[in-house]
Amino acid sequence: MAPKDKAPKKDCVSTESYKGVRDFYPEDQFIQRYIFEHMERVCELFGYEEYNASILEHAELYRSKTSEEIVNEQTYTFTDRGDREVTLRPEMTPTFARMIAAKAREIPLPARWYTIANVFRYERPQRGRLREHWQLNADLVGVSGAHADAEILAIAHGIMMSFGATERDFEIRISDRRILDTIYDSVRIDLDIRAQVTRLLDRRAKMDDFETVIMEALGNAEQAAALIDHLKRTTSTSYLEELRIELEHMGINNMVVDTKITRGFDYYTGMVFEVFDSDPANRRSLFGGGRYDNLLSLFGGDPIPSVGFGMGDVTARDFLESHNLLPSYVPATELMIAIIEESATSHAMRLAQDLRREDVTVAVNFSSKKIGDQIRQADKLKIPFVIAVGSQERETGRYTIKNLATGHEITLPAERIAEHLFSALG
Ligand code: HAM
Repeated sequence: MAPKDKAPKKDCVSTESYKGVRDFYPEDQFIQRYIFEHMERVCELFGYEEYNASILEHAELYRSKTSEEIVNEQTYTFTDRGDREVTLRPEMTPTFARMIAAKAREIPLPARWYTIANVFRYERPQRGRLREHWQLNADLVGVSGAHADAEILAIAHGIMMSFGATERDFEIRISDRRILDTIYDSVRIDLDIRAQVTRLLDRRAKMDDFETVIMEALGNAEQAAALIDHLKRTTSTSYLEELRIELEHMGINNMVVDTKITRGFDYYTGMVFEVFDSDPANRRSLFGGGRYDNLLSLFGGDPIPSVGFGMGDVTARDFLESHNLLPSYVPATELMIAIIEESATSHAMRLAQDLRREDVTVAVNFSSKKIGDQIRQADKLKIPFVIAVGSQERETGRYTIKNLATGHEITLPAERIAEHLFSALG
């Protein structure tokens, strides 16, 4: 970071990152990797295969109703040098649907796929919301019904548990888009404004004047009152209760039916859910997902039942922080070779190379600083072991390995160093 008291010198480039995105210094990247490894592991435990795609998409993909209006208003879109309109993906579901639709005949169903993708939304940066975040997407295509929905929810639950959370630390809030369809039918809301009303309902918690907004959208006070009354009276459905039983069979006991969950995206058709942190400091959802049985038909083929979720890294990290579940930093480097006399440098490089062949991660200190400073640097970097190499080591072929945490030292020939480090590191 640039020193705060000094304005950058004239003609100098700022060291600040772009608004709403993050730089990942090694200690941040360590946490990021920890989060990703847990996400990947749990998806793979459920039989999901990893996929990926470019962050660049044809802007058209998001205009063709694959995405919600809100996300559309938040896209980063530009025209490339060949006059094509390009969008940085704001979510992964349209890309996923496009990829499945492109090879629908070849891909054996059901397909279970996951990815951890960075996505871009022009949002107002705030706690839990940035302009670039990474999002785990896990989606199951080709199966409808409670077993498939339960599997997707069990993955979300499994990731939280793998972080060391308990069921008291978070809540899976579920509803069903079909509840809204039934209410819209009985209140006789026009088909062409239903998606807009659903998006308003999704923002209900964030609006103070929700009832007025609904009234204005419908242009009919009586209909608005009937809608609000129906929403208040609907508490669950037999399908959601069936789903609850499925989850309980799988040992998942923190699902709650919350008919206020509607989700903003137009493509959901059935079960919808969000996962919330029980810590009120983290108000933003950790996961959002649901069933979308018609999206794939937008690409011209048959509809294929699909269900999945997105889980963001920003809220995941906030969750780990709030619940004291962050891992402590361990650098990738196990050993630093400090150099006592510059003439020993080539010898140190050779020793490092031999140890790398035995799978030891090792950095050589080229700083030419005093040995004490080199050791302090290793300690600051949290590197656990140091070997100091000078003419004596070069001549005897014996090296003293110092454990910086305990101060313990042991002198060994080169060929026994790796074995000692591995047993000490456990
Ligand atoms: P979403 O609710 O927009 O859903 O995002 C899913 C999760 O991504 C959120 O719960 C949150 O953790 C994270 N997230 C979203 N926006 C931001 C942001 N601006 N900054 C930080 N984190 C954010 C979707 O994107 C759907 N496509 C998910 C899906 C997959 N549905 C079915 N399959």
